[in-house]
Amino acid sequence: MRNLTIRTKMTMWYSFMLLILLSIFSFLVYAMMSKMMYSGEENLIKAHAAQAVSSVEVENGSVKFTEPHELVISGTYITVYDKRGQIIFGGDGIYPDIDIKKPSEEKLRVIKTKDNTWMIYDRPVHEENGLVAWVRASRSLMPVGKTMENLRDILFLTIPLFLIIASGGGMFLASRALAPIDRITKTARAIGHGDLSRRLNMPNVQDEVGRLAMTFDEMLDRLEKSFKKERQFTSDASHELRTPIAVIRAIAEETLTGERNGDEYREALEIILKEAAKMGKMVSQLLLLTRGDEGRYRLEMEKIDLKIVVEDVAGEMQSMAEQYGIDLCIDAGKSVVVKGDQTLLTRLFMNLIENAVKYNKRGGWVKVTLDEVKNFARIIVEDSGIGIPEEDLPHVFDRFYRVDRSRSTDGTGLGLSIVNWIVKIHSGKIDIMSHPDKGTRFIVYLPLNSSRDGS
Ligand SMILES: Nc1ncnc2c1ncn2[C@@H]1O[C@H](COP(=O)(O)OP(=O)(O)OP(=O)(O)O)[C@@H](O)[C@H]1O
Ligand SMILES: [Mg+2]
Repeated sequence: MRNLTIRTKMTMWYSFMLLILLSIFSFLVYAMMSKMMYSGEENLIKAHAAQAVSSVEVENGSVKFTEPHELVISGTYITVYDKRGQIIFGGDGIYPDIDIKKPSEEKLRVIKTKDNTWMIYDRPVHEENGLVAWVRASRSLMPVGKTMENLRDILFLTIPLFLIIASGGGMFLASRALAPIDRITKTARAIGHGDLSRRLNMPNVQDEVGRLAMTFDEMLDRLEKSFKKERQFTSDASHELRTPIAVIRAIAEETLTGERNGDEYREALEIILKEAAKMGKMVSQLLLLTRGDEGRYRLEMEKIDLKIVVEDVAGEMQSMAEQYGIDLCIDAGKSVVVKGDQTLLTRLFMNLIENAVKYNKRGGWVKVTLDEVKNFARIIVEDSGIGIPEEDLPHVFDRFYRVDRSRSTDGTGLGLSIVNWIVKIHSGKIDIMSHPDKGTRFIVYLPLNSSRDGS
């Protein structure tokens, strides 16, 4: 049963049900017909017997009977007995192969002979002074039996015929209804061989299979997109990692070609160290992002005062700002408490402030403002830097996206995608505004810690 196709199983169930229904129906038809025909015969024999009784006459003590003409042609045989049981009219010769007793009580019987079945009805004839005679009416039930036999034959013939037609029709309909599933299977198989661009593209039918096909196509859309993203990500990552590796290799090879003095070795090692640090940073950023993608990052949510975090980060960035000749200032009044992961929030401000310092002009400024707006903590990081061209704004959160590679030589383009992920994972929102040559403003909204117990 398990190896059968749905089509065959459906047809088999359907035919089985039909067989049961047809059998019940046939049985009922047969039983009802038989009852109707027998009771028709019963009524007829009783009416004929009554007619015969009314034709019995007693004259001077002797019984006389003239069979009514209608009875002769209606197939009812009449035998009349006098009260002592002597036959006056007709005879028992109509059913020669059985011996049947003379009438003695009013009775309706059905008697089977070797080649026929008889319905026999005995009726007494009474006059004023009691019983005078007996009338026996007999009808052959052969015609009824024949009709019932015919009906049985018809039913036995039609049941298999109906079953064959219905199963054929059922099989055809099931095949038609299930044909799209075969298509889905074929497409799924093609996809199994790596062709993610295939779609079922079935006409927009709102039945079960139509909905399945639509869901399947939607799933493929998502799969294809995420596969493409994944592939792009891997290729970008390897590409980005290739550059520092190439630099390290070239420097090492060149340094090893001849005799070098101590300073030259030192210089080469410093470059190698810088490139290795860059690779290290990139790898740890990639790891963080992939962990986030896979949902493997274990968030440690706790009550966090953003004022402290922002001040700590700004303190750490101060020396870098000085190095770039930037004035970094903070405008944070009272404590703003959110629920978040300390490490990630620190990373978030670090990345934003680092960008604001890096992509600034000498003598420029960076301002970090912290306040509350409705149920959100709002952090604004703005700078007087080089800005981002409008056409690049939608892409700055993409992985490995750098506006102009010449402006960030040591950047990997992952900083803002990490910022974006951190904001999302904290159910927050980030906006960006920028004017080339004037500066950029990032606004981050994080939901305030709403639970009173602070847990
Ligand atoms: N405050 C800003 N002012 C001007 N341009 C910016 C600013 N912040 C980001 N950008 C631009 O957006 C790009 C993407 O920034 P992102 O922080 O993602 O990468 P990155 O700084 O190049 O590298 P990473 O942060 O990984 O070291 C940068 O290359 C830079 O061109
Ligand atoms: Mg950055």
